[in-house]
Amino acid sequence: MNPFSPSKGPASKLIDGLTSDPATWMGQSLISVTQLTTPGLELLVQAAAEMRTLVKNHGGDDRLKHKILATIFYEASTRTSCSFQTAMLRLGGQVMHVDASAGGNTSSKKGETVSDTVKCLQCYTDVTVMRHPTQGTVVNTALDSIITKPVINAGDGVGEHPTQALLDLFTIIDEIGILQDDNVLNNEPSTEPLIVVLLGDLKHGRTVHSLAKLLARAQREFFKRPLVLRYCSPEVLKMPSYIQEYIDEVSTIAGSDITQEIYTNVYDAMKNSDVLYQTRVQKERFNSPVEYANVKGAYIIDTQLMEDAPRKMIVMHPLPRVDEIDTDVDKDPRAAYFRQMENGLYVRMAILALVLGKGVAY
Ligand code: NCD
Repeated sequence: MNPFSPSKGPASKLIDGLTSDPATWMGQSLISVTQLTTPGLELLVQAAAEMRTLVKNHGGDDRLKHKILATIFYEASTRTSCSFQTAMLRLGGQVMHVDASAGGNTSSKKGETVSDTVKCLQCYTDVTVMRHPTQGTVVNTALDSIITKPVINAGDGVGEHPTQALLDLFTIIDEIGILQDDNVLNNEPSTEPLIVVLLGDLKHGRTVHSLAKLLARAQREFFKRPLVLRYCSPEVLKMPSYIQEYIDEVSTIAGSDITQEIYTNVYDAMKNSDVLYQTRVQKERFNSPVEYANVKGAYIIDTQLMEDAPRKMIVMHPLPRVDEIDTDVDKDPRAAYFRQMENGLYVRMAILALVLGKGVAY
């Protein structure tokens, strides 16, 4: 499918729909990073930077007063769930959280469909943030004709995690200096390639699927510098070919300067890199404990590895970590993962404000 041409199918609103016009965000679901145009990305980054300033100076405001967010998580979450809830609270709104892991106490225990459960939440609230372990369930719910309010994808199995990718992108541009004076449009782009290493479980990691796609879409007009994506993983956990093909397609259609490279040795992969994006080996997605045990300690970032790493290279991780980043690395100024986690609040404040029609004017 051509990622830049409008689809004729029911998913057409999920491609290239979100632009710099805040009206295009209002009432829209956010399911995939493919919905964001470059101007849409600029708007979101600008809005997130403003949210950061707002939180630092005033703690928040009341622009979402009388609005209610429903969060429904059919799978475990700390950061995504808490940052969305806090984002809503900091903008004066209210939150209703449903823990639906393994069905939880929802009517799915009685056989209700996911769409019917979400429809129920939408009768009482204004926007739904949803996570589900099965790829496709969130998009199918959002596109169900009974669903009339925005659904935000907070992770769908091994599919996508668009809001994580957006906060990752915000972190990258913030950390490597593109975001100057909280105004992304002032950037003086470098002509050096941006080298991003995606490390670990690239097969099951939805965060790296969304991030690779988003970086590829952002290369030409947003970063304005060549992009090198280095995939470093054990053979059995390699980046799915459909993601690599999508990026090739984006590259061809947009005339982008993107190189995709495959590595198994992290020391080779991180040479001259700007970002080392570590991921957790996703135990819950393996068919057998033996398969998991064979790969679980494949890559550990420790102080020894950091001694060999480029001085400018930041370390990112969507978190939670298990043992793939040694806690001694936390003290290294290049460890950006806690700053990245904080950015999740600002980016999600911006997303909620935009989809509820309060993204720009107060
Ligand atoms: C990630 C996820 O749920 O995909 N966590 C998150 O949302 N920050 C990564 C993971 O669980 O490993």
